[in-house]
Amino acid sequence: MRAVSYSQFGGPEVLHVADVPVPEPGPGQVRVRVAASVVHPVDLMVRSGRFPAPLPTGLPYTPGWDVAGTIDAVGPSVEELAIGDEVIGFSPWLQTTVGAHAEYVVLDAAWLTSAPTGVPATEAATLPTNGLAAAQALDLLALPAGSTVLVTGAAGQVGGFVLALARATGLHATGLAGADDREFVESLGAAFLPRSGDPMGTFDAVIDLAVIGPSLLDVIRDGGGYVAASPPLRPEPVRGIRTFALEVRPDGSRLGELVKLVTSGDIPLRVAGVYPFTDAAAAHDRLAQGGVRGGVVIVPGLEQQPNGQSR
Ligand SMILES: NC(=O)c1ccc[n+]([C@@H]2O[C@H](COP(=O)([O-])OP(=O)(O)OC[C@H]3O[C@@H](n4cnc5c(N)ncnc54)[C@H](OP(=O)(O)O)[C@@H]3O)[C@@H](O)[C@H]2O)c1
Repeated sequence: MRAVSYSQFGGPEVLHVADVPVPEPGPGQVRVRVAASVVHPVDLMVRSGRFPAPLPTGLPYTPGWDVAGTIDAVGPSVEELAIGDEVIGFSPWLQTTVGAHAEYVVLDAAWLTSAPTGVPATEAATLPTNGLAAAQALDLLALPAGSTVLVTGAAGQVGGFVLALARATGLHATGLAGADDREFVESLGAAFLPRSGDPMGTFDAVIDLAVIGPSLLDVIRDGGGYVAASPPLRPEPVRGIRTFALEVRPDGSRLGELVKLVTSGDIPLRVAGVYPFTDAAAAHDRLAQGGVRGGVVIVPGLEQQPNGQSR
């Protein structure tokens, strides 16, 4: 099968399409024929060798978190999923080295859930990693309904999901974003705060997706909460403020709850562009330029045959 791969760290030009063996599912696992995946900011950091934490040993890497696709093989002890099911989920590839920018990926069945009905795979693929990151950030804070939360980077992929979930769970969100993003922030029921100038006000909690850092503790009430999107930047607690480092984890059943909110129209999905594997470098370039609103989606791009081979 074909997979996006790189054998050395560097610029987008290190990305290429490699021929690798089709993986086989073990106990509790399924194999998904991938229809769409997504490129994330962290993928650019890893590729360039700038990731500030230990990486799995051994290049080459096939990167890729999100998966939208169809189950085409099922391992022993899998009862809840079957061949032909349309699913979404994500692969924690920085732990496992099993990346989803591949025609087929083997994942634990517990990491997957049914794809939202009637939603194209290119849109559905934008939900798993960032939707779960948003949900797990709010889960860490465990805010009661009516609480206030400031979300920095509110117009980004995770930010949009946080605003949507905050609205769905009765929180009062304020989105810190650029002036051009005001309409998007307000469309999700959040108050808008411009990113020019220092954030003002007092909030029960902050979710810091723009990685502004410890200065934001100043706008959190005593005993509130702070979630850092980038684990090394988790500040020491002060004034009883609980501080957390987000580390998104696969969770099929929590993802299933998010799918229901997509189906009900409470969570909008956004796609910034769709790139075939052969244009993976262009996808990375697009994300590196900044200002992206929506998922940078990557697709195998060639017709696949039922036997797992691609033309
Ligand atoms: N730890 C985890 O498990 C985990 C999981 C998922 C994501 N993350 C992290 O979460 C962060 C957000 O991810 P994402 O996918 O949502 O990225 P994204 O789509 O690029 O969103 C980031 C947003 O922040 C905006 N921004 C940058 N600086 C800002 C500032 N000073 N004030 C207000 N907004 C600002 C960006 O605007 P412009 O585009 O205009 O610059 C963009 O809209 C990233 O750092 C990502 O690595 C962590």
